[in-house]
Amino acid sequence: MRNVVVVGSQWGDEGKGKIVDWLSSEADIVVRFQGGHNAGHTLVIDKKVFKLRLLPSGIVRKGKISILGNGVVIDPWALLDEIEEIKKQGINVTPENFMISETASLILPFHQEMDEIREDAAGKEKIGTTRRGIGPCYEDKVGRRSIRVMDLRSESNLDVRLENVLLHHNAIRKGLKKKVYKKNDLKKKLMKIAPEILKFAKPVWLKLDDFKKERKKILFEGAQGILLDVDHGTYPYVTSSNTVPAMAATGSGSGPDKIGYILGITKAYTTRVGSGPFPTELKNKIGENLGKRGKEFGTVTARKRRCGWFDGVLVRQTIKISGINGIALTKLDVLDELDEIKMCIEYELNGKKINYLPAASEDQFNIKPIYKSFPGWKTKTKGIRNIADLPENAKKYIYSLEDFIGAKISSISTSPEREDTILVEDPFKI
Ligand code: GDP
Ligand code: IMO
Ligand code: MG
Repeated sequence: MRNVVVVGSQWGDEGKGKIVDWLSSEADIVVRFQGGHNAGHTLVIDKKVFKLRLLPSGIVRKGKISILGNGVVIDPWALLDEIEEIKKQGINVTPENFMISETASLILPFHQEMDEIREDAAGKEKIGTTRRGIGPCYEDKVGRRSIRVMDLRSESNLDVRLENVLLHHNAIRKGLKKKVYKKNDLKKKLMKIAPEILKFAKPVWLKLDDFKKERKKILFEGAQGILLDVDHGTYPYVTSSNTVPAMAATGSGSGPDKIGYILGITKAYTTRVGSGPFPTELKNKIGENLGKRGKEFGTVTARKRRCGWFDGVLVRQTIKISGINGIALTKLDVLDELDEIKMCIEYELNGKKINYLPAASEDQFNIKPIYKSFPGWKTKTKGIRNIADLPENAKKYIYSLEDFIGAKISSISTSPEREDTILVEDPFKI
C-alpha cells in the first residue's frame, strides 16, 4: 500500500485537478497541503464542469474524505462561498467528508487588500498575483502573528491575536494612508462565521495517523507548480509557498515516509499566468492557437494564459529538484493540428550553451531556447483511451519527451473529461 502526491511540474494549470479526480477513485483521502484559493482546479465529469479553488478535488466523489492541511492558507469567507456553490451542483460538504486543520492560517481582508495595494504600486514590475492575499497571509504566518483556525474557538484569545496582527498591519496601513482596521469589527465578523468553520476543524495530523493505521490510501493534491515554488521557482515571480512534494509532509502533519509515489502533472506544451520569465513563450499565431485550442484562460482570474513550446530543460530540472517519479502528460490533444512541434532541449546565454535554468532572474529573462523539431500527427488524439491508438508521430513525441526529462510517463490525458485518460502504470500500485 502506498500514497501518491500530485504536483504540477511547470507553472501551474497543468491539469492537476483532472488527474487528482481521476486517481481519487483509488484513494480514500485527498489532502491539500499548500496554497489557497489562488488555485483553480477544473474537473469535467460527464460534461459537468466543477471549478474548485480551495476544496480538494476528491470532494466530488462519494465516500472520500477531503482535507485542508496546516500548510494551506484559508480565506474563511471564500471557503464558505465555495461550499455553497458546490452544493448547488449537488455536492454536500459536511464534517463527515471534509475537514480542515486547526493550525491552518486564515486569510483576512487586510491580506487581500495588501496584495492589491502592492501589485498596483509595482506597476510593470508587478508579479501578477491572483490578488487573493496569499503572499501577505504567508508572511504573517512566518512572522508568527497569523490568526489560525483554532483561534476562532475563544473570543478572548481571538481578541489578543487580533490585537497583535493589527499592530503590524495598521502601522503599515497608516503609513500608506489607508483606513485602519478596527479590532472589534473584525472580531465580530469572524465570530459570526466561527461555528461554520470550526465544525470542520480537526487535529489533521492525528486523523492522518489513524488513517495510516487503517491502511487508507492518501492522495496529496498540490496546487500551483514547481516553477512557482518560493525556493525553487522563478523568484521573485513565484507564489509564497513551497510547492514541491516534500511540502505534502510538512503541510499536512505527516512524516515524509507517508509520501510514496510522486506524480508530476506535465502539460504537453507550456503555459504561465502572470509576469515572469518564460523562455519558450510564443508571442505569435502558434501561441495564440495553443491558447485557443487549450482554452487557456485562468480558472480563478479569467486571465489569458501565456503559451509556448514544451520546455524539456525546465521539466527535467523540476523533476530533479522535487523527486518526481513519473509524470501524467496532459493536453496532448491540443497539439493535434500542428504541422511541426518543438521541444526546448538547451538554452543559450551570452553565446554559451547551458543545460539548466540559471538562478538569476535577469539571466532567466535573457536566455534563448534551442529547439528540437518533431513532425506533427495532424490527426485527432482527443478522447483516445488506449496508448496503441495514438498516431505514430504522437508516440515519437511523447517517448522523446520521456527520454529527455528522465521520468516515466505514468498516464496521458487526451481531453478534459475524467475518463479520457490513458493509464500506463498505476501510481498506487507501483
Ligand atoms: P490545474 O490548476 O492544474 O488543476 O489545471 P486547470 O484546471 O487550471 O487547467 C487545466 C485546464 O485544462 C482545465 O480547463 C481542464 O479541464 C483542461 N484539461 C485537463 N486535461 C486536459 C486534456 O488532456 N486535454 C484538454 N484539451 N484539456 C484538458
Ligand atoms: P493552480 O493550482 C497558475 C501564479 C500567479 C502569479 C504567482 C503568484 O491552479 O495550478 P499568488 O496569488 O499565488 O501570490 O500569485 O503565481 N499562480 C498560479 N498560476 N496556476 C495556479 O494554481 C496559480 N496560483 C498562483 O498567477 O504569477
Ligand atoms: Mg489551475
